[in-house]
Amino acid sequence: MRAFGATFLLGVTSCCLAGPVKDGTAAKTSLIPSASPSPTPKPSASWPGDRKKQSKNVHDFFKLYGWLKHGETIPDAKFASAIRKIQKVLRQPETGVYDQNMDVILSQPRCGTEQPYNETDAKQDGDMHRRFVLWGPKWDHTPITYRFINYTADLPAELQRSIVSAAFAQWSQYVPVSISQAPPSAPRADIHIKFRSMGPSENAYAFTNMIADGLSLSSGLINITFNDDYNWSDDRLFNFTATHEIGHSLGLSHSKVEEAIMFAVYLGMIRQPHPDDQAAIHGVYGWKNPRWNRIDVSAATKKNIIQVSSTSSPGIIDGLYQLRSTGQVLWYSPSGTWTSVDNNKDTVQIAGSGGNLYQRHTDGSTYKYTGTGQNWQYIGAPSSNVLEVIAAADQVYVRRKDGWIARWSGSGTSWTTVAQPSAQLSQQIAVTDSKTLWSLLTNGDLVRSLWPYTSDGWQVVDQNAANKQIAVGGEEFYKLQSDGTVVWLNMDEYFWNIIEDAGSVGIYANGLYLYSRHGDGSIWRYTGTPNVWEQLDSRADSLYVVGDRIGNVYEMLTSGDIYKLVS
Ligand SMILES: *[C@@H]1O[C@H](CO)[C@@H](O)[C@H](O)[C@H]1NC(C)=O
Ligand SMILES: *[C@@H]1O[C@H](CO)[C@@H](O)[C@H](O)[C@H]1NC(C)=O
Ligand SMILES: *[C@@H]1O[C@H](CO)[C@@H](O)[C@H](O)[C@H]1NC(C)=O
Ligand SMILES: *[C@@H]1O[C@H](CO)[C@@H](O)[C@H](O)[C@H]1NC(C)=O
Ligand SMILES: *[C@@H]1O[C@H](CO)[C@@H](O)[C@H](O)[C@H]1NC(C)=O
Ligand SMILES: [Zn+2]
Repeated sequence: MRAFGATFLLGVTSCCLAGPVKDGTAAKTSLIPSASPSPTPKPSASWPGDRKKQSKNVHDFFKLYGWLKHGETIPDAKFASAIRKIQKVLRQPETGVYDQNMDVILSQPRCGTEQPYNETDAKQDGDMHRRFVLWGPKWDHTPITYRFINYTADLPAELQRSIVSAAFAQWSQYVPVSISQAPPSAPRADIHIKFRSMGPSENAYAFTNMIADGLSLSSGLINITFNDDYNWSDDRLFNFTATHEIGHSLGLSHSKVEEAIMFAVYLGMIRQPHPDDQAAIHGVYGWKNPRWNRIDVSAATKKNIIQVSSTSSPGIIDGLYQLRSTGQVLWYSPSGTWTSVDNNKDTVQIAGSGGNLYQRHTDGSTYKYTGTGQNWQYIGAPSSNVLEVIAAADQVYVRRKDGWIARWSGSGTSWTTVAQPSAQLSQQIAVTDSKTLWSLLTNGDLVRSLWPYTSDGWQVVDQNAANKQIAVGGEEFYKLQSDGTVVWLNMDEYFWNIIEDAGSVGIYANGLYLYSRHGDGSIWRYTGTPNVWEQLDSRADSLYVVGDRIGNVYEMLTSGDIYKLVS
C-alpha cells in the first residue's frame, strides 16, 4: 500500500481531527457573489503584515505541486526564490516579493489535494513544463462506482447528486470507462464523497486522498472531502470543485496550465475541459474505440466544411455546415442528420461564426442566413472586387482584390472599408473574439488593427517572408511558417514562441483549441504546452479539420467523407 503525503493537508491534519465542530448557526463564508461567475477573493484584512498567513499560502502552494517533501519547510533564505517559482506558474511578474497581488491570488479558493514530492519539479527553477502531470495509478476496472457518505445542507441532495453525476461524465465522455453510483446493496463504493468542516484558517475547498495499491487506485479508500465551512449554495462552485476533485479521484494531478480544470487554484471558476485536461485523461485511460465516426459518406462533391461557433451558449445557427460543389449548404443536426439550408448553384463559399452563417455567390454578392428554412438575407451587392467572406466574432468581413477589407455595417447592403497599410495585398485575415483584425499580407508581413478600426490603426507586428498561414482562437494568435513550424504570439511578453516543429501544413483554431495537420495527413491537438501535442488521427488522406468551442472535432477526407471525433 502506497500512501502519499497527499492523504491529508499538512498542518491541517491536527486542525481537522480536533477541528471545530460545525455550528449550524454560524455564518458560513460565501466567496462567490451570485451575479459573478468568478470568485471574489476574501478581503485580506491582515495584509501586509501577516507573515504567518503568507508563509502558509506559499507552503500550501508548494505542496499542491509536489515541490515540498513531507514535513519540510522552506527556509527564510529561500523564500524569495520560492515566490518567484510560484509567480512563474501563475504567469505573474517574477519579483520574488510577496505583494498584494500574490496575496489575493494565493488567498483564492483552491484545491487541497497535495501531490507527492517530485524532485525533478521541485529542483527546477527555470523553464517549467506547463502541462498536466499524471499521478500514475488508475482504476483497473469499469464501471467505477461512487457513493455519497453525506451531503452539505447548503444545496438540495438531489442537486448534489445530479451535479456530481454530470461532473463524472465530464471526464468519462472522453474515455472507455463508465462511472455509476454504487447500488445500495454494495458493501462499499470505489470513491466516497463527503462534507466536513476543516476549520477557519483553511482556504482549501476540497481535497482528494490519492491512495494506491501498486499500480491501481484502491477501491473504498479514495475519498473526496469537501470543506463544509464554505457555503455551497452557489451550485457553480460545487460544480467546478466536484469536477476538479473527480479528476484527482481518477488519477490526475495538478496541471500548470492556468485554463485547465486541473489547475490547483480556482482562478476562473467554471471552466470547460481544456485540451490539457483531455490529453491527461486520455493519457491515463486511452481512447474510446473507434475514435472517429463517419457522419457523411457522399461522393467527392464537397467543397468545404465549416463550424459556426458562438462565444457563449450555442445559438440556433450553431453547428457544423458543409458546402457541396452543387452549391447546396447542409447543416449537421445534433440528432445526426444533414438538413439542407440552401440549394443554389451560385454559392461558392460559406463562412460562419458567433451564431451567424453567410454565403458568397460567384458574382461576389453576399447573404446571411435567417435561421429558418432556406431563407437568406441579401447583405452585399455583386462585386468582382470580393474575393472571400470571413465571419469572426459577431462580424462579417470581405477580403477584396484591391487589398482593402470591408466590414458589413449590420444593415442593408452597406459596408465600411478598413484601409490597407501598404500597397501589399492581403492573403488571409483572422479576427479575435475582441475583434482585433489580423491580416497576413502577400509579402509575409503581419499587420493588426484594433477595434474600432481606424484608417491609421494598422500596426506591423511581424515581417517574415516565411509566414504562410494565420489562425486565431479566442484571443490567441498563431501562425504557420513555410518550414512547418507553428508559432504562438505571447502577448504578455511580446515574443514568438515555437510550439510545434513537426512538419505542419495547416492550422485551425477555435476558442481554446488549436489543431495542426501534418504533411503526412495526421491531425494533432495542442495541449497548451509548447511542443506537446496529442495525436487525434493518423490517416494519410485527411483534407482538413475543424472544431467547435467545446471540443468537438470534425475531419474531412479527400474522398469527401466527413468524420467526427468520438471522444
Ligand atoms: C449561504 O448563502 C445563501 C445565499 O447567499 C444564503 O441564503 C444562506 O443563508 C447561506 N447559508 C449559510 C449557512 O450561511
Ligand atoms: C515529475 O515532474 C516532471 C516534470 O513535470 C514529470 O515529467 C514527471 O513525470 C514527474 N514525476 C512523477 C513521478 O510524477
Ligand atoms: C460526514 O461524515 C464525516 C465522517 O465520514 C463526518 O466527519 C462529517 O462531519 C459528516 N458531515 C456531515 C455534514 O454530516
Ligand atoms: C475513505 O472513506 C471510507 C468510508 O468513509 C473509509 O472507510 C476509508 O478509510 C477512507 N479512506 C481514507 C484514506 O481515509
Ligand atoms: C457544470 O459546469 C459545466 C461546465 O464545466 C456545465 O457544462 C454544466 O452545465 C454545469 N452543470 C450544472 C448542473 O450547472
Ligand atoms: Zn486539486
